[in-house]
Amino acid sequence: MSVDLTKTNIEVKEYQLLLEDLQGNILQGYEQDYAVQIFLKFESDAQATRQWIRDFAAEFVTSAQHQLNEPQKYSQDSSQNFPKLWANFFLSAHGYQALGFELKGKRLQFPSWTFLAGMKAFKPILSDPPIDQWQDGFRGDIDALILLAADQSEYLQQQAKTVMKAVSHVACIVNTEVGHILRNAQIQPNGKGQTIEHFGFRDGISQPLFFKQDIEQRQQQGNDQWDACAPLELVLVKDPFGQGENSYGSYCVYRKLKQDVQGFRQREKQLVQKLGLTGNDAERAGALVIGRFRDGTPITLSNSGQGDTTIVNNFNYADDTEGTKCPFHAHIRKTNPRGDRGDSVESLEEQRQHRIVRRAIPYGGTSPEQQILTSAISRLREHLTSLPHEALRVENNEGVGLLFLCFQRDIFNQFMFMQKSWVNQKNFVKYDTGLDPVAGQGKQLDGGQKWSKEWGQEEKVSFEFNNFVRMQGGEFFFAPSISFLANI
Ligand code: HEM
Repeated sequence: MSVDLTKTNIEVKEYQLLLEDLQGNILQGYEQDYAVQIFLKFESDAQATRQWIRDFAAEFVTSAQHQLNEPQKYSQDSSQNFPKLWANFFLSAHGYQALGFELKGKRLQFPSWTFLAGMKAFKPILSDPPIDQWQDGFRGDIDALILLAADQSEYLQQQAKTVMKAVSHVACIVNTEVGHILRNAQIQPNGKGQTIEHFGFRDGISQPLFFKQDIEQRQQQGNDQWDACAPLELVLVKDPFGQGENSYGSYCVYRKLKQDVQGFRQREKQLVQKLGLTGNDAERAGALVIGRFRDGTPITLSNSGQGDTTIVNNFNYADDTEGTKCPFHAHIRKTNPRGDRGDSVESLEEQRQHRIVRRAIPYGGTSPEQQILTSAISRLREHLTSLPHEALRVENNEGVGLLFLCFQRDIFNQFMFMQKSWVNQKNFVKYDTGLDPVAGQGKQLDGGQKWSKEWGQEEKVSFEFNNFVRMQGGEFFFAPSISFLANI
């Protein structure tokens, strides 16, 4: 009997077969501090490559069920701690074809035409930079992406070394990226700070939730203003190459996004001056850009950061219909309008269909562990691919940003819709709203963004805040079922 994907609030035990065959990181994010991403282009021998994938899947790939069974985080009791590796394997449409799979015309449901065309084909629609300006490793074809995550950087380095050496016999490693979690000084019960991104804002707060255990935890703050529950069908699709009724996968969008932190902060200071903000009130400028203060407090609910450690996500914009508290262009209002109508014709339910599950991790920065890991992975790639080290160092170590990754059922209706029709669209959610100041890509347009001088007051000023995030390259992937990988 096939499973019911329209359900949310799911009990783990009812979906065990599906969860055992589904890769981890989709329905719940990995929480590990470090990640290594290995991008592959298969060499000619498809049989040898398939054999390698089978072996890799058997030894490394983490199932959703395993992820739920294992405590993810280190225990306070150090005797309970031992290093663990979490791994994914994703294929691009080009990768399926290189392995000898007939995709075109054979399967009506799979793959989607967006996935088949690949990210480069949508450059004009997504307003992405010309491909010759993408990072070298993203310019050519990419067949597969291996994602490894662990809490200890040294252990991850060893594991990545083993995997990279083995895979280099069947594939060329065209690119590697190293991610690491950034934290603020707000220590939580697990002894670590809250997770943030490079501009300094808390990240990973608002996500679609699937499991009863996650939903119940979140419901303590209520769900009458915003319900984070999502049906499995928001992210899962049947894997037609899987071995059974319970074989599912998910489409994955990967984009390396470089952040100009200095430029962002300078512009933020200029906005402080433009709005005449003084003292503690100055922090409102950044909050008007993101829609949350740096500590995560939603600006539509409060005119200052509350320093609250609880996740505040039960809100919408029904009491802020003129955008006087949270501007219409703010990053979280653009990417999740929560029922905002403006000139939009979509109902709340329709808007909710565009949601994505974000699994991004920052890259770059000054942490010694991260720098050692990045340079070790780069050196190894240099050794395995005979590329000049200097070229790799410049290519991979430059700057800081976000290794953006999201899962969904339908790339066109979810990530692409969000990026094209909301984030990059000057006239969403209403005429002359302006671009999303964080994720907006494309030509800077005059006018648009308007910022209220005082919280909740009508007087607004025009000011352009754009172009501090630049796309470096990416690709569309599919996260196949584990039974497909094990029998490929
Ligand atoms: C470097 C680039 C980016 C940065 C620094 C960034 C930062 C943030 C931050 C700080 C939040 C608030 C925390 C939270 O609610 O989880 C957030 C939320 C969000 N971001 Fe981004 N983001 C980036 C790119 C993107 C892109 C490209 C997209 C999709 C097109 C996106 C979609 C979202 C969504 C859907 C939310 C949750 C909104 C909500 O439900 O209220 N972000 N982002």
